[in-house]
Amino acid sequence: MKKVLLAVSVAALAHTAQAATLNLYCSAQEDWCQLMSKTFEEKTGINVKMQRKSSGETFAQIRAESANPKGDVWWGGTGDPHLQAAEEKLTAPYVSPMRGELQDWAISQAKSAGDRTIGIYSGALGYGYNADLLKKNNLPAPSCWKDLLKPEFKGHVQIANPNSSGTAYTTLATMMQLFGEGGGFDYMKGLHKNVNQYTKSGSAPIKASARGESTVGIVFMHDAVKQAVSGFPIKVVAPCEGTGYEIGSMSIIDGARNMDSAKKFYDWALSADAQSLALQVKAFQVPSNKGSKTSPSAPNLASIKLIDYDFKKYGSSAERKRLLKKWDDDVSTLPQ
Ligand code: G6P
Repeated sequence: MKKVLLAVSVAALAHTAQAATLNLYCSAQEDWCQLMSKTFEEKTGINVKMQRKSSGETFAQIRAESANPKGDVWWGGTGDPHLQAAEEKLTAPYVSPMRGELQDWAISQAKSAGDRTIGIYSGALGYGYNADLLKKNNLPAPSCWKDLLKPEFKGHVQIANPNSSGTAYTTLATMMQLFGEGGGFDYMKGLHKNVNQYTKSGSAPIKASARGESTVGIVFMHDAVKQAVSGFPIKVVAPCEGTGYEIGSMSIIDGARNMDSAKKFYDWALSADAQSLALQVKAFQVPSNKGSKTSPSAPNLASIKLIDYDFKKYGSSAERKRLLKKWDDDVSTLPQ
């Protein structure tokens, strides 16, 4: 009898241990993803298995796995592919009790997606350059998007591939909104002539600038600030024509196997305490919880000329597919 009881309780324990897992797909910076995973694990005892991939890549993975979902929560990354996932019902609706603590822009993101996603941070697009390399190459200090098309910048600009990276897709969509479709694609074609490499991850270009491997990196401004405050000779630019921005988002994957853990993480990730962790890894986005700590180093969005970014249009499945295909066909294939 004792043996049977023991066997039953061991089985029960094994079951609990197995249930207390979270498969986290993370599209923010690697160090932030790790800190979020570790802290949640310490607080709850839930075992977190985290994978960091760029926003477009994670979207593609969730879609590929939709018949047999392997992820539970997708945390971070630009909002557009989260909106596309919501439209394709790859993510599940959830209304967190934490909503009352959030900024309006975070809740609007949720409302526009039938509660299948929510805003966790926001940040403006721009670029950064290595001031030492600029001087060494006798280049004029750029301050506008159009400055990056100047022939003397050939080979000096780095940006990610918009298929894998949400940062680069935000750039593509921003050019459509600033210069119109024709003008926007002309801009991307002009830029292509000066690009030295299309990276997979959105923030890689500014890390290359920090290391002195490339002069200009087109990234979110907070990613450039992170390198500057870390002591690298990076100057951060808010382009003169105005710029787009992201609503970094979080979604629960439809059919998540660990739904309880997913909701626990989701609620915690919306708390002021969890969002304040960002500062430990110099992640200077604007947090969506109104009570989170912010840093004076963070770009002040109120002082930047922001466009009225059309998330509904550029986060729609049809438009994102169409723009990426056009970029693949008309821009990426051009000789440099
Ligand atoms: C960086 C930024 C985030 C952004 C993310 C998108 O990590 O700090 O604010 O959401 O890039 O990553 P991706 O690789 O998809 O461009």
